[in-house]
Amino acid sequence: MSNILRKILVTCALPYANGSIHIGHMLEHIQADIWVRYQRMCGNEVWFVSADDAHGTAIMLKSQDLKISSHALIKNIRKEHKIDFLNFNISHDNYYSTHSLENLYLLRNIFKSLNQKGLIQEKNISQFYDNIKNIFLPDRFIKGTCPICYAKNQYGDFCEICSAIYEPIDLIDPISVISGTQPILKNTKNLYFNLPIFSKMLKNWINSGVLDNVVIKKTEEWFKIGLKSWCISRDAPYFGFKIPNYQNKYFYVWLDAPIGYISAFKNLCFKNKYLNFNDLWDKKSNYELYHFIGKDIIYFHTLFWPAILEASSFRKPNKIFVHGYLTMNGLKLSKSKGAVIKASNWIQCFDSDSLRYYYASKLSNKIDDIEMNLEDFVQKINSDIVNKLVNLASRNASFINKYFNGYLSDELNDVQLYNYFVNSSIDIKKFFENRQFSFVVKESMRLLDIANQYINNKKPWKMIINKNNLIELQKICTIGINFFRIVMIFLKPILPDLSYKTELFLAIELNWKNINSPLLSHKINKFSLLYTRIKFEQINKLMNLCK
Ligand code: MSP
Ligand code: ZN
Repeated sequence: MSNILRKILVTCALPYANGSIHIGHMLEHIQADIWVRYQRMCGNEVWFVSADDAHGTAIMLKSQDLKISSHALIKNIRKEHKIDFLNFNISHDNYYSTHSLENLYLLRNIFKSLNQKGLIQEKNISQFYDNIKNIFLPDRFIKGTCPICYAKNQYGDFCEICSAIYEPIDLIDPISVISGTQPILKNTKNLYFNLPIFSKMLKNWINSGVLDNVVIKKTEEWFKIGLKSWCISRDAPYFGFKIPNYQNKYFYVWLDAPIGYISAFKNLCFKNKYLNFNDLWDKKSNYELYHFIGKDIIYFHTLFWPAILEASSFRKPNKIFVHGYLTMNGLKLSKSKGAVIKASNWIQCFDSDSLRYYYASKLSNKIDDIEMNLEDFVQKINSDIVNKLVNLASRNASFINKYFNGYLSDELNDVQLYNYFVNSSIDIKKFFENRQFSFVVKESMRLLDIANQYINNKKPWKMIINKNNLIELQKICTIGINFFRIVMIFLKPILPDLSYKTELFLAIELNWKNINSPLLSHKINKFSLLYTRIKFEQINKLMNLCK
């Protein structure tokens, strides 16, 4: 009778260790966490890892700004990031760092195997160099006029106005972002990974069901331009791992960053003796592997990463789940554009369940952006969680506590309606599995409307006038509590704090297993406030913190 349970590893993209977690990052971790909690609730074996992406020029420059070492910076930031994720109930099994021994070891092995297969080639190139700061400039640290549409102030590799992709050398009037001066061209030697050799494998792979159609289309744009060799080295000064047998050369951060997925799991194996590293990463693995990422880093995950995995004989992911950006007033949340709400500021003004719920109510398996509107947020939380959900519990519990010493009746007065609620779990499960969380929320609210309407029609407050109606009253409130319980089972992956309080209040564990059997002849605890209404003033407080 035992189901065959799934074994799953879930990852979130690794946030850069040069700044705080903002609520845009949190969108990704909340999305993945809801999915993870759902899978765990189904009894599957799920491991959930992420890490700080601790290397690269940006981190080096940031630590120089702060006049601390890069090591000190990434140590402080990781501590801060871990607290942020904890505050939002993100249930990572391991939150590691790419600046770790495991990652160095794996990176070196992978590089060795690429080398042995003849996939690494040296090339002499000329690259922009900042003569004031004495540093080669990464694409994102050069700005200039787009060579295609002539839009000003565009990055060295990509135009945000016309979406053109180009080489920094093609930029008109290039300027170093670091010193504000005009960079010079300087010769250097770099290492390149032979990506084009994997074209056929990649084409097959991206069409094998691992990507949604929109993501396939985006990836195919790169094939149209033609795959090029990928530069995997950077010159000193750089913060990262050194390339063996080369002077002053470092591995490019985007080579060792995704290897961080593997090393975070390797470190987890060290902490948890039950786990076996090869069981997961071997080509014959019976674990499923899923990466949650944002749409800005698609091609790193759909081209370079599977090619590196193939080349070094590791297994590839089963699916890559891509989400859109969180926007505010239509603007993508990012450090460079302002409009940033740090996770740590958010949590000083609101609870974490509310953000999780708001995101869930907007999340789908599409890559459309998600607009954050704070007034809409407050309204939604108060009308859904307070007026519909918690109100259903409180209005029924008050009678059960007052007249029946906390005891629910011994039978249901409307088995059919109860079963109707239970049956919706088939859809709900499908929605969770497919990451259609907005449908989970919608269906739950529809059921709550039915439940509240049912109670309204029965008018329990009138029944206490005539003592003969008490048995009927108990039954009505009992089914009311049972409706609440069913919806809370549905919402448990989304609302961990409220679920925990509900479990204490109902004196049961919320789970799918016994959803068919109603709670009867059972003593519930005194109802204490499960959730507090949000006030509009809390928005002002947040805005003041973000100034
Ligand atoms: N370090 C790389 C990822 C390496 S993965 C091997 C990186 N870091 S990041 O900090 O810039 O972004 C981390 C994740 O957060 C990415 O998936 C990115 O898409 C996501 N988001 C960053 N800003 C976001 C929004 N405004 N909205 C939604 N997701 C956002 O990229
Ligand atoms: Zn352009």
